[in-house]
Amino acid sequence: MSFSRVVILLCVVAVVLASKHKSKHQQMKASRHEMRGAKKALESLSYTKEEQIYSIDGYKEEPEESINDVTDKCNTLPCPPGETCYIDRDGAPYCDCVEFCIEEDGDPFIQVCSTGNVTYRSQCELYRLRCVNPREMDAEHLDYFGPCKIMEQCNPADLATFPQRMRTWFLEVMKELSGLTEEQGGLDEEEREFEKLAEAETKPWRRPLHWKFFNMDIAPNDFHLSESELMPMRAQLLPMEPCTDAFIASCDTNDDDLISIVEWGTCMGLNEEEILY
Ligand SMILES: *[C@@H]1O[C@H](CO)[C@@H](O)[C@H](O)[C@H]1NC(C)=O
Repeated sequence: MSFSRVVILLCVVAVVLASKHKSKHQQMKASRHEMRGAKKALESLSYTKEEQIYSIDGYKEEPEESINDVTDKCNTLPCPPGETCYIDRDGAPYCDCVEFCIEEDGDPFIQVCSTGNVTYRSQCELYRLRCVNPREMDAEHLDYFGPCKIMEQCNPADLATFPQRMRTWFLEVMKELSGLTEEQGGLDEEEREFEKLAEAETKPWRRPLHWKFFNMDIAPNDFHLSESELMPMRAQLLPMEPCTDAFIASCDTNDDDLISIVEWGTCMGLNEEEILY
């Protein structure tokens, strides 16, 4: 699979989601020092990357008012996917549907397949249309990245080796991001340290697993991943990995539709001590 492509998708989705669910609750909880460090780092990562990502995904509009005025006011108002920030007559910022999505360069992975098995030009276009036609498109959600296709069956051998592939993937993503500056959407200083420590360990993928978990555990940050928190990762993996759903289900050992940090670590091949350090 192509890591650089996956990295870009990972960033886009993580940032869109993080900005969507920005909440004060995020600062709470995380009891252990390293976890808190990684989480905090991720939050700042999300916000510095916002502008870049929005322009990639076409959410950003050319404002009609003075550019500085709009940028300043809209900086404090992150809009959900498919919406962008405008300034009303009284000078207050508000979110509304984007008028158009910037055309992409024909990369098939920019396209997305919806839950209704319809291919959209981009994630921006799917969310833009949902925003414009909320009633008609109520049931249309992002299913996976790339054009709709016939899904292969998950074969047991692929399911058995799934955790190894995921571990390698997270490790590679983190390494790749550590090679980029923050402006380019890479890791910040704290995350970079976390990544260095990871490389020196006998299981170098252990910290990336934590990093990825807390990267997703944002709405709310409660040490459990819900279906909607897992959605962006699922949407990236599914077109390449037909066993994605079977794997996620296999992690949820108590069948509560949530993946706890312990369940996550366990199904990735860590023991309890390695998970809660
Ligand atoms: C979804 O769409 C693709 C491409 O048009 C098609 O090949 C596939 O069979 C469809 N899948 C389902 C479940 O309808």
